[in-house]
Amino acid sequence: MTSAVEPGTVPGGEPGAAPAELEAHFEATLAHKDRVEPRDWMPERYRRTLVRQIAQHAHSEIIGMQPEGNWISRAPSLRRKAILLAKVQDEAGHGLYLYSATETLGVTRTELTERLVSGAQKYSSIFNYPTLSYADVGTIGWLVDGAAICNQVPLCRTSFGPYGRAMIRICKEESFHQRQGYELLMTMMRGTDEQRAMVQESVDRFWWPSLMMFGPPDDASPNTAQSMAWGIKTHTNDELRQRFVDMTVPQAEALGVTLPDPELAWNEERAAHDFGEIDWDEFWRVVGGDGPCNAQRVAHRKKAWDDGAWVREAATAFARKQEQQQEAA
Ligand SMILES: [Fe+2]
Ligand SMILES: [Fe+2]
Repeated sequence: MTSAVEPGTVPGGEPGAAPAELEAHFEATLAHKDRVEPRDWMPERYRRTLVRQIAQHAHSEIIGMQPEGNWISRAPSLRRKAILLAKVQDEAGHGLYLYSATETLGVTRTELTERLVSGAQKYSSIFNYPTLSYADVGTIGWLVDGAAICNQVPLCRTSFGPYGRAMIRICKEESFHQRQGYELLMTMMRGTDEQRAMVQESVDRFWWPSLMMFGPPDDASPNTAQSMAWGIKTHTNDELRQRFVDMTVPQAEALGVTLPDPELAWNEERAAHDFGEIDWDEFWRVVGGDGPCNAQRVAHRKKAWDDGAWVREAATAFARKQEQQQEAA
């Protein structure tokens, strides 16, 4: 199935340029902070921006299953295994809601998956880092899901209806993810010196990549202004990054870990934390495909997609057969 509504056409109307009336209706919807729905007329650039953003988000959920999935078979107890299984399964669900939201914009899941495995579409750079110890499961829950929450809570009020509604449920599950990570780290911090060292080593590796999850700084993020005007984004990358740092510092103190940034300090005047410069060369390198695990992540996804081809073919054949039977009846 391809696009339900061809770009630039009006459902039930004449194909071609959008009448000024429809454009005005779109602008009024945004001005009232109402949702834009899939059947509504929308500018082609708005549609394309959403496809790119929601698909990238969906891909991140699906690829994000790999680093943690790496530890399911080696969880230290049945309880930890059950928690981790549930968490990784939630991420699969998040990916599916988001692919469904993207499909309402006229692209198929097959097209999106092909764009992911060919490298035409990206996913969050954080998932290109390896998980080297079980403490990473806790750190990812605490920092990576924590950063995701900062990014995603404002998206619950994003202007495109299917995206905003998917985010409401996703955010509820992300808070469970963050708490399970924090609880795991807290348990390890109450354990032996070796366990405390494991937590610290893990936090040292994940802190900076977590800050990179908010994307490039505002002055290097040319699309932000348009996304904010369309109500897709409601906060800039730097605003959200600051919010995350301010939220995380007291949690690190309660946990008893040191965040690996000597410049991290409370700024009385700004009523916010100052922090050191992010290594943007590393960020662009990893986004560009040259992170520690980029090739491995995409190859794994491609293999799973290829291995599942027979299931998709069988399901399509079954649906066709049922249709034929119904027609015959
Ligand atoms: Fe998620
Ligand atoms: Fe999550």
